[in-house]
Amino acid sequence: MKWKHHKKRWIDCDRCSLCEQRNKVVLLKGKIPCDILMVGEAPGISEDTLGKPFIGPAGKLLEEIIEAAKESSGVNVSIAFTNVVGCIPKDGTGAKTKEPPKDAIKECSARLKEVAKLCRPQFVVCVGKLSGKWSRHTLKDLGYTFEDIIHPAAILRSKVNKELAIQQTEITLRDLFESVVPF
Ligand code: URA
Repeated sequence: MKWKHHKKRWIDCDRCSLCEQRNKVVLLKGKIPCDILMVGEAPGISEDTLGKPFIGPAGKLLEEIIEAAKESSGVNVSIAFTNVVGCIPKDGTGAKTKEPPKDAIKECSARLKEVAKLCRPQFVVCVGKLSGKWSRHTLKDLGYTFEDIIHPAAILRSKVNKELAIQQTEITLRDLFESVVPF
């Protein structure tokens, strides 16, 4: 399958109820293929508006950590970004919910699997606990190696040890970048 076909299959998706309240389906940011595929949880407001993953405040923090890890490892890995679900999850009042509903995660697993096959990464980085659980579950047959990092939104929310969490995430990513095999 090519990106063009993937995009066509999912860009107007109405397989689950999240389609009713979203603005844009959020598919992928980055180039295919990539060394590392980062899988977040769900699009936020900025992502829903522009149709790209990790472009809001959490995404900006993640990009800063990635840049620092690239610099300290001296390795320029290619990274693409997606989410466990492609649409922003909202409640009855139109506010974003903390977690996407299980039926949306299940319906969207075919999209995640498809995009992971397109990306052919050496590593899948699960961004946050929900992604850690569902990315492993969805991609278990594809033979990827998984790594977990704390969700940058959780870092932004935390009142204590922000710097420590940033430092630890940078170290995890630096070590991972150093183990990417160059082709
Ligand atoms: N933006 C995303 O695209 N995914 C997240 O998990 C958080 C913010």
